[in-house]
Amino acid sequence: MTDHSYSPAQPIPVFRPFHGEEEIEAVAEVLRSGWWGQGPKTAEFEQRFAEFVGAPLAVSLNSATAALHLALTVAGVEGAEVITTPMTFVSTNHAILYNRAIPVFADIQADTLNIDPDDIERKITPRTRAIMAVDYGGQPADLDRLQAIAQAHNLLLIEDAAHAAGSIYKGRPVGSIAPMTCFSFHPVKNLATGDGGMITLGDPEWAERVRRLRWVGINKDTWVRSDDADESRYAWQYDVTELGFKYHTNDIMAAIALVQLQRLPQTNARRRAIAAMYDAGLGDLDWIQLPVHRPDVVSAQHNYVIHLDNRDGLAGWLREHKIATGMHYIPNHLYAMYRPYATPLPVAEREWKRLLTLPLFPALTDDEVIYIIETIRRYHA
Ligand SMILES: Cc1ncc(COP(=O)(O)O)c(C=O)c1O
Repeated sequence: MTDHSYSPAQPIPVFRPFHGEEEIEAVAEVLRSGWWGQGPKTAEFEQRFAEFVGAPLAVSLNSATAALHLALTVAGVEGAEVITTPMTFVSTNHAILYNRAIPVFADIQADTLNIDPDDIERKITPRTRAIMAVDYGGQPADLDRLQAIAQAHNLLLIEDAAHAAGSIYKGRPVGSIAPMTCFSFHPVKNLATGDGGMITLGDPEWAERVRRLRWVGINKDTWVRSDDADESRYAWQYDVTELGFKYHTNDIMAAIALVQLQRLPQTNARRRAIAAMYDAGLGDLDWIQLPVHRPDVVSAQHNYVIHLDNRDGLAGWLREHKIATGMHYIPNHLYAMYRPYATPLPVAEREWKRLLTLPLFPALTDDEVIYIIETIRRYHA
């Protein structure tokens, strides 16, 4: 690689949200409209998102954590076992515990870091009700295999696609495959709002129940009531039918989301282009293992995670050169509060110590990527 004189003025972060003037305009429009809460923009975003992923229905929430919580609630997992991955943000597994269900950890595949279907099969018992799969880094889990296992054992597959907005699995968009798929719109996710989440699904009764549960159990939301034909008499009427949560989103976030959804194909393409630059620039280094890209998927490329033995050494070297790195994730069964559910998971326990997340976000420039590549190459030079 040629010598490059670029040096960053500011440290390069691992992730950074991306926006243009359109998001600012969209927020201003909602502020001026006088309707800031959940309303027409939210409904429009749900419809557009469902169309985008090819799902019959989409129900928005204020986070993926809330989406995972309620997906498992409508799946009826209370008291049952849910087979899950340790290689995730802890919300995935908290959602199981929120439902008073039991997380049963299965090991991961060493290359994709996704849940290992063979280990899932070993962990199935008569008490198993669901499988929770995360699309790590945007690369879909082995969804056909997981669906086949789920069907064979009468289990429900729930997909945590927090990293995978815009990912495609064997020609089908993520969000249209599992019975329920949960997305995150956290600030550094591929489609970012202030915070937010979505469940895409096909079952209208589940969707209806999620809509009730996201709004404290009320059977009719404020916007729908304000739109009633007989508004003058009955607009204030509703019932509370079960103990719900304050999990709904609002039109300010939905307005940002609508713009971000339009940008998503381009921003995901930029993420993949950056990943291709890393692949080309680091591919010959025998001390680094690059992320695998399965040929039958298009990844949203939420992150770029390398595997190497001296992970902390390289992280320190990059920090000295104004390059931030991350580590995703400490296997969840190693957390103090998950000790009661811990079981030996040799691949996760070996591999997490070797993971390093390099900077990847749409506004990362080619110069910055080349600088990162060259700085990594100099580490062992
Ligand atoms: C894999 C995974 N699942 C769930 C979550 C929770 O998402 P949120 O922050 O929208 O609740 C995150 C993100 O932070 C995540 O990375």
